[in-house]
Amino acid sequence: MHHSRVSPFQRIEMTFFYVVLFAGTAVILWESRDYFLPGRLHGFIMERIDLAVEDWWRYTLITHVAGGLICLVSSLLQYSKILLKRAAWVHRSLGRIYGLSIIMVVFPTGMALAFVAKGGLSGTIGFLFLSFATLFSLLIGMVAIYRKNLRSHQIWISRSFALVTSAITFRVLQLTLAQFNLDYDQIYQGALWGSIAINIGFCEYYLLKTTKQRK
Ligand code: HEM
Repeated sequence: MHHSRVSPFQRIEMTFFYVVLFAGTAVILWESRDYFLPGRLHGFIMERIDLAVEDWWRYTLITHVAGGLICLVSSLLQYSKILLKRAAWVHRSLGRIYGLSIIMVVFPTGMALAFVAKGGLSGTIGFLFLSFATLFSLLIGMVAIYRKNLRSHQIWISRSFALVTSAITFRVLQLTLAQFNLDYDQIYQGALWGSIAINIGFCEYYLLKTTKQRK
């Protein structure tokens, strides 16, 4: 019998990764229900009552949330080595859903919403950066796998995934920063830039580690 060499520390890291990913996705799914249930008005729409009267904004936001949820859910199993080994076609199908949801929905709607986002200019620049960085890292990662460059695929898709899942970190940070004596815009801007920085940090740490493992 061959046993894989997973250290106790790596086990803790993997558990942390999956707990945050699954719990975060579940919470966002649950918290988004009011966008889709008839006769309900989501709290976020009420907060932005000046924009809520604009049809384009409401439809773009609801499309964005639906696309973001599809994107998140389709990514949940993509780091499973077992899935990749036993049923690579599932990884490929989920990957296509993930890629298409970003290219067709999350990127264009995220970009449009960015121009009127909370947090003023800093919010707009942050969300614009997030949408373009997500799209470009995804495209580089897709081209890499069409060229059968597995390592480059892993690196660039992981970067796009880190940016997509900043939606989870964003909400954790928002709740954390709300405990301090900060005004609303400061919390929003801090959560936005902070979540991007934290997720890219974790991602580059993971990529460095997997580089060392290959040597
Ligand atoms: C990675 C690229 C993404 C970008 C650039 C982006 C951008 C935005 C922008 C600009 C807004 C409006 C914020 C405002 O008006 O203040 C927004 C709201 C929202 N986004 Fe995204 N987003 C992204 C990914 C995601 C993902 C993956 C989800 C997962 C479901 C998601 C779910 C939401 C939700 C639920 C809202 C409504 C606000 C709230 O409930 O807090 N987004 N997004």
